[in-house]
Amino acid sequence: MKKLFLIPWMLLTTLAVTTACGEPHPSSNEPEQTRPEDDGNDEEGGNVNGADGRYLVLYCSRTGNTERMARTIQSTLDCEMAEVEPAVPYDTDYNAMLDRAQTELEAIAQGDFPAITTSVESFDNYDIIFVGYPIWFGHMASPMQAFLHDHAALLAGKRIALFASSGSSGIGTSERDAAALVPEALFEESLLLTSGSLGSMATRIPAWLEELGAGREEH
Ligand SMILES: Cc1cc2nc3c(=O)[nH]c(=O)nc-3n(C[C@H](O)[C@H](O)[C@H](O)COP(=O)(O)O)c2cc1C
Repeated sequence: MKKLFLIPWMLLTTLAVTTACGEPHPSSNEPEQTRPEDDGNDEEGGNVNGADGRYLVLYCSRTGNTERMARTIQSTLDCEMAEVEPAVPYDTDYNAMLDRAQTELEAIAQGDFPAITTSVESFDNYDIIFVGYPIWFGHMASPMQAFLHDHAALLAGKRIALFASSGSSGIGTSERDAAALVPEALFEESLLLTSGSLGSMATRIPAWLEELGAGREEH
């Protein structure tokens, strides 16, 4: 993986990100206290058997930032949501976590994807699938890359809206990751929130959903 890329990001975010990622719950961008299993919409780390609403929110998140974005989308649309989880949980030690993430991304570049515990049987009835992840070394976090790889055939022809959180990096490289993993999907306008803009989530996300034409589901 590109160590050169890592250096500017590390310099920019040494204080903020080290604190955030060194702890399960960062102090600066405190995740919600509720966990995915607390609501009826989430099927964490298991099978989603398919499509009883128009939208599905899928996310992976280690320190809670992307999860907060996912929950805001889910509650705005009142739709289904599921967490994409690695088969082996990430180490809470920050440096061990960085090493593993880097190793996984290098393996993905060679076509070797890490195991995950989440699968979806069918996307047929969903209008839009929201796919959220943190940016890792400029790329889509490895569990979500594995999910897209595993479900590429089922996602062909589907509308996908990517959303991501990062310390400061852009979303462009991860958009290219997604396009390579699911070349036959139809990608909508993506949404990135950085550590500087996560605070405006409550306005940015509804505005983005409106641009996509996504509205609250009727149940
Ligand atoms: C392994 C790893 C690599 C990261 N690489 C980057 C990066 O390249 N650029 C960046 O801006 N932030 C990077 N970050 C910071 C995360 O993208 C950021 O904190 C994100 O909001 C975390 O989302 P989460 O709370 O959902 O896990 C990295 C974090 C980790 C753990």
